[in-house]
Amino acid sequence: MEIKRIAVIGAGTMGRGIAEVAAVAGLDVLIVEVSESQRKLSQTQVRKSIEQGVRAGKIFAGGGSGTTADAAAAADVISSRIIWTDDIDAAAMTKFVIEAVPEEESLKLDVFSRLDGVCPPTAILASNTSSISLTRLASATGRPDRVVGMHFFNPVPMMAPVEIVRAATTSEDTVETTRRLAEQMGKQAFVVQGRPGFVVNRVLMPLINEAAIALHEGVADAVTIDGLMKLGCNHPMGPLRLADLVGLDVCVSILHVLHRELGDKFCPCPLLIDMVQAGKLGRKSGEGFYKY
Ligand code: CAA
Repeated sequence: MEIKRIAVIGAGTMGRGIAEVAAVAGLDVLIVEVSESQRKLSQTQVRKSIEQGVRAGKIFAGGGSGTTADAAAAADVISSRIIWTDDIDAAAMTKFVIEAVPEEESLKLDVFSRLDGVCPPTAILASNTSSISLTRLASATGRPDRVVGMHFFNPVPMMAPVEIVRAATTSEDTVETTRRLAEQMGKQAFVVQGRPGFVVNRVLMPLINEAAIALHEGVADAVTIDGLMKLGCNHPMGPLRLADLVGLDVCVSILHVLHRELGDKFCPCPLLIDMVQAGKLGRKSGEGFYKY
């Protein structure tokens, strides 16, 4: 099945990043976002990110050489491939849908059941979930063989991989079509089983959690922990700064799932839980382990 047009449900950080890379790759994109303010904010951010990509020499459109005028022209061309709407029924003719709404199971189940009602029976419904069971999402539809995980990484335009996640019911055809779409979007696809946290979050979240525990126990301050991990392990950023980028609420919710499904070694650090309760969610709220 050749994919020329996709729909993305949700225009938060991940949804707008997915829409951007799809449009940059030449696909037509429908993006469904119910909040008007989020739609407007995302339109501006997608445009800014495309211009930044052109100036960095990573996005080419219109044959320019990266000047500000080239960046604006490329942003016009690429943005024109994205249609913004608040109406999920507009996804009716789409063969491939990527859901990227907030990480709440009841919300995702509702979106999957609505998409199942409006999309053609042959359409593939993918979820960008980082922790919710794909098999449970698949069971909210009448096409469990055509439900799959497509887990992108933040910031989507800069991060190379995508985890293609098999639910217990996902067919081989669905996995292959999803892998080809990820590659068409310029990403490197890795196929994994739908076990809790898949691969990246299962390995990454204990690192972030342990860094928070070290801070909580007073082993060192945040700058020291991050500085050591960055330079000592050659990571692009320290685990606490990365937690701020991902969102502390997202980290805690993934840790809760891992704790519930895989045991005590994933029990979230009390400091992380306290910070989320205090509204310190990281970059998106202006404060986490650092101020922004
Ligand atoms: N499109 C494409 N590429 C772009 C771009 C755009 N719009 N804007 C910038 N770039 C390119 C830059 O040209 C640069 O490329 P090179 O490395 O080839 O020079 C690269 O992206 C990095 O850009 P910058 O130099 O501006 O930024 P940086 O060097 O400070 O790196 C970073 C920023 C990529 C975020 C880096 O710090 C990093 O990799 N951090 C770790 C991020 C990470 O681990 N993310 C995963 C989180 S886990 C997750 O998301 C899953 C989950 O479920 C929670």
